[in-house]
Amino acid sequence: MSIQSTIWPARFLSVTVLFCLISLFIFPVASFATSSVLTSSALTSSASKVDAKVVYDHWCAQCHGYEGRADGINSTPDMAINPRDHTDRNFMITRSDDQFEDVIRGGGTRAAKSPLMPPWEHTLTDAEIKSLVAYLRVLCKCEYEGVVSHEKLRGVDPDFK
Ligand code: HEC
Repeated sequence: MSIQSTIWPARFLSVTVLFCLISLFIFPVASFATSSVLTSSALTSSASKVDAKVVYDHWCAQCHGYEGRADGINSTPDMAINPRDHTDRNFMITRSDDQFEDVIRGGGTRAAKSPLMPPWEHTLTDAEIKSLVAYLRVLCKCEYEGVVSHEKLRGVDPDFK
């Protein structure tokens, strides 16, 4: 009796510890495998299959926000220049799709804008970048409305030079 009561808990404990160790190993491997499958299928799919919202939520929302309102988790008062509000129709109608594509590819500096807007040409595929440009039009519910005067542009974008 006394032998059993000392041995059994020890065995029970070692089995429990072993189980915990095994699951500690298996769980991260399993979840990594699932998440990498999900991510790669979402991001490497062909042109017609790209889900722009998935791409935007993954790469852009941290600054521009899930709704595109420039309120992402990394958009703080410390940022010298705030991320662009992609729902700001007044601004968005002043930029063509080509201009958006350019700034997404090369980052802010390619368009004489803040370097806080990173370049994406080495991270995203052509299809993903093009799908993002189209998605920006969904967010702003607007189209490019042609070149506007600098005066008008200054009114909506004080930083514009
Ligand atoms: C690290 C933060 C950050 C991330 C991530 C980010 N941006 Fe930006 N983005 C900015 C900032 C800051 C600006 C404002 C630059 C300026 O006005 O000088 C900006 C501006 C823009 C503009 C407006 C450019 C213009 O002509 O004024 C577009 C379009 C844009 N981002 C698209 C995207 C897309 C698409 C993604 C995801 C692939 C993305 N951004 C990810 C910070 C970010």
